[in-house]
Amino acid sequence: MSALPDSDEKATYVERMFARIAPGYDRVNRVMTFGLDQGWRRRMVTMIAPPVGGDALDVGTGTGDFLPELAGWLRDGRAVGVDFTLPMMVAGLPKIDALANAGRAAFVGGDALHLPFPDGSFDAITTGFMLRNVTDIGQALGEMYRVARPGAMMACLEVARPRSALLRLGHRIYFEGVVPWIGQLLGGDRRAYTYLPQSARNFPPPERLAELMRAAGWAHVRYELVGLGAAAIHTGAKV
Ligand SMILES: C[S@@+](CC[C@H](N)C(=O)[O-])C[C@H]1O[C@@H](n2cnc3c(N)ncnc32)[C@H](O)[C@@H]1O
Repeated sequence: MSALPDSDEKATYVERMFARIAPGYDRVNRVMTFGLDQGWRRRMVTMIAPPVGGDALDVGTGTGDFLPELAGWLRDGRAVGVDFTLPMMVAGLPKIDALANAGRAAFVGGDALHLPFPDGSFDAITTGFMLRNVTDIGQALGEMYRVARPGAMMACLEVARPRSALLRLGHRIYFEGVVPWIGQLLGGDRRAYTYLPQSARNFPPPERLAELMRAAGWAHVRYELVGLGAAAIHTGAKV
């Protein structure tokens, strides 16, 4: 498939694509972001500072890269990662098993548009590079809001486009010309990593994403750009 599928087919397309690239996902991510992605996740979790006795949820968790960060903050609570692509979570199991407090982290199968948790279940919510894959960003943000407890914080890491024209050009050449080849060489799947720049191009810019968060109920919404503007971290609170 060379172009983005329409929204009816998108969920199936996304799930199959991530199932295919699951074994090499972490390796490609580290190389593609020059190893910066883990630092962004750490910073995000620090920004929302999950309460030590609380519960945290990572939506579209994939291989669970947020879970060690979240579990590190929690003394008594749980760090739960939810995703609808089971092979991604299977690929991440060794990461969870290696945690000192492994019993506090878990994967759950589920759809970000219909989270399988009751209202007000979590004190901190993260989501990374997931929103551009869903068919309804507002609904996903609303679901996160629903399962958040009053006082909970959420943080979202997503792609953005640098503001300066020069960096924007370099970013475009890198994402559209180089990243698919990194995906081919390290992940064995050029097509999946051609989808990445396509989905990024269609994703709302940071200011618009902030508006969508506010519309979903999130308060005190802020964002900062990281990676020379190639990614944005949004935070919000449920008051
Ligand atoms: C690019 S990966 C990001 C994984 C991880 N959050 C990270 O930071 O690396 C996107 C993940 O979102 C998941 N995803 C996309 N749409 C979803 C949905 N509607 N419900 C649950 N998971 C979804 C995919 O299965 C995939 O694992």
